[in-house]
Amino acid sequence: MRVIGIETSCDETGIAVYDEQQGLLSHQLYSQVKLHADYGGVVPELASRDHVRKIVPLIKQALVDANCTQSDIDGIAFTKGPGLVGALLVGSSVARSLAFAWGVPAVGVHHMEGHLLAPVLDEPAPEFPFVALLVSGGHSMMVRVDGIGQYEILGESVDDAAGEAFDKTAKLLGLDYPGGPLLAKMAEKGEAGHYKFPRPMTDRPGLDFSFSGLKTFAANTIRGSDQSEQSKANIAYAFQEAVIDTLAIKCKRALKQTGLKRLVIAGGVSANKQLRVEFALMMKKLQGTVFYPRLEFCTDNGAMIAYAGLQRLKAGESEGLSTKAQPRWSL
Ligand code: KG4
Ligand code: ZN
Repeated sequence: MRVIGIETSCDETGIAVYDEQQGLLSHQLYSQVKLHADYGGVVPELASRDHVRKIVPLIKQALVDANCTQSDIDGIAFTKGPGLVGALLVGSSVARSLAFAWGVPAVGVHHMEGHLLAPVLDEPAPEFPFVALLVSGGHSMMVRVDGIGQYEILGESVDDAAGEAFDKTAKLLGLDYPGGPLLAKMAEKGEAGHYKFPRPMTDRPGLDFSFSGLKTFAANTIRGSDQSEQSKANIAYAFQEAVIDTLAIKCKRALKQTGLKRLVIAGGVSANKQLRVEFALMMKKLQGTVFYPRLEFCTDNGAMIAYAGLQRLKAGESEGLSTKAQPRWSL
């Protein structure tokens, strides 16, 4: 079976061709970062229009790169939600139209399922069951994964997602959108020991997260500092350390609670270098293994949707023509 994956939930148009036997054959990614940069965040209407402009040329290119034509495609997977409704509708409409025209099934995929399966695209792939920490711009959650479609949410953010906290704090530090990777870069110049941020919700039982307090703490700390570049870097360092520490404490708890030794970390924040350093140390101590998607598949992409969709199609799922998008959708 060979599937096209279409991702348009936010500001990236991601297209990929995945083959059951041969694995990933091609993938195309167009990021709208420059388009939204002047506004300091994603403008939903501009995002939808840009997806419309890019989606068909990217699908054509992905087919050429995969050395195949429409007659080789057995199904179309698209991100059905959660995400920006207009952006989702572009992917969903194109996917279902192609499926109708080509006489193949279409299947809607949950964006976070795509993220949590992204490490499976590369070797060594994590075996089920595992604990997944999903940390993106829109969601933060801890999930017990027993197999495809067998997900138990162990905890999630009660307010901002981890990536959102990175982006908002980056903005306070005067960095451009999307600030997460820029804050991480700034933190490389920071020194330890100047500021101590809280580790939210770690002093009580449970696996939920809360990150909005860190952003407020950052705002107050910046205001009280001398605003020099070095102080800003020190604040970025302390903020990042607090997020990573908090995620590590919760993951340790989740692994203990489930008795599992395999941990998957996915979503945009899993691209963070310092996070990978800290988690390598922690998992070594716990004698467990941590798996990440390859860097380019930490953030939104079509490959993870093609892979998740192929699994869904193989299980006999497909969508009718009337299916649209589901901007709010729990895993
Ligand atoms: O998964 P993703 O592409 O989009 C959503 O599904 O939301 O994640 C994007 C998020 C943004 O908040 C971005 O700032 C954050 O991931 N991010 C990072 C890094 N790279 C991306 N945060 C911290 N450090 C990074 N290196
Ligand atoms: Zn995402």
